[in-house]
Amino acid sequence: MELSTRYLGLTLRNPLVASASPLSKTVDGVRRLADAGVGAVVLYSLFEEQLHREALQDARRAEAGTESFAEALSYFPAGAGEDHGPRRYLNLLERAARAVSVPVIGSLNGSTPGSWARYARSMQDAGAAAIELNIYYLPGDPHIRSGDVEQRHLDILARVKDAVTVPVAVKLSPYFSATGEMVRRLDEAGADGLVLFNRFLQPDIDPETLTVVRAVSLSTPAEIRLPLTWIALLRGRVGASLAATTGVESSIELIKYLLAGADVVMTASALLRHGPEHAAVLLDGLCEWMRRKGYATVEELRGLLATPVGADETARERGDYVSALQHANSTDYGPW
Ligand SMILES: Cc1cc2nc3c(=O)[nH]c(=O)nc-3n(C[C@H](O)[C@H](O)[C@H](O)COP(=O)(O)O)c2cc1C
Repeated sequence: MELSTRYLGLTLRNPLVASASPLSKTVDGVRRLADAGVGAVVLYSLFEEQLHREALQDARRAEAGTESFAEALSYFPAGAGEDHGPRRYLNLLERAARAVSVPVIGSLNGSTPGSWARYARSMQDAGAAAIELNIYYLPGDPHIRSGDVEQRHLDILARVKDAVTVPVAVKLSPYFSATGEMVRRLDEAGADGLVLFNRFLQPDIDPETLTVVRAVSLSTPAEIRLPLTWIALLRGRVGASLAATTGVESSIELIKYLLAGADVVMTASALLRHGPEHAAVLLDGLCEWMRRKGYATVEELRGLLATPVGADETARERGDYVSALQHANSTDYGPW
């Protein structure tokens, strides 16, 4: 079975990629993912905020002159469970990239166009085969203009692209007025890949304790529908690679994303739930299905169910919606 895949100009042994998550917080974790068979590993994110904090620490140290590093750090204590992010991150990246034969991708996470983006270069120098730029930005202020939100994405990408020669993938939100146009403009601005999509942290409310609960929850397969729709719509319409992320629990979701046209399919929640070795289960399931359906290579099946290029995408989506709702409205949902 031939699973090899091109992603961001890199050749991967298969289209399954370990998405950014705490599983890649140690070299051992990265090694377990590689041993389980994934085609590439995206490290957990280094955040713009951590880089700002480090810059402040450096400035503080320089100001203090003779002050020791430990003393300087005490002015800006790290968050819980965090050990002075950027230096540790580069060290891990360097060791992980040497420890495994699959590409290790560094993840840089931010929301403003700033000098922090230059850190992508340090990731490249530490051995990152590519950079995944996660632009996580929720324009909560109702005065923020949609055009400014889009321009912000392009400006951040430009800064990262300026800093590196390795490929850059952009992980973005699905919530734009015209998501397709945003993707196209990122593609034109030089994004080598689009990672669809960021899962927004959607706080819950606990009515008993009257508190807002802000916790990351693991995904479910029902969540694949939104990225699946956009992967199918974008396939063949942009030069950048398309990566699907969200909702892969079994090989079924992996297969669906490939049929929609994803170049690679990422997974985090399922590996957190079942352990890194679950990657082998996903790949075995893909191979078993390919054998049963008579496919010898992933290329033969990739994009088979994408929206055909040349179709009137907007009319088609509207038509599908109207007929689905008409069908739903003539369905008997009882008995009550
Ligand atoms: C516990 C946890 C930690 C995550 N950390 C990161 C991160 O550091 N950077 C990032 O870009 N995405 C992060 N993600 C998002 C995942 O990479 C992924 O895009 C998302 O969970 C959807 O994929 P899934 O349904 O396979 O989990 C995290 C997700 C989880 C569940």
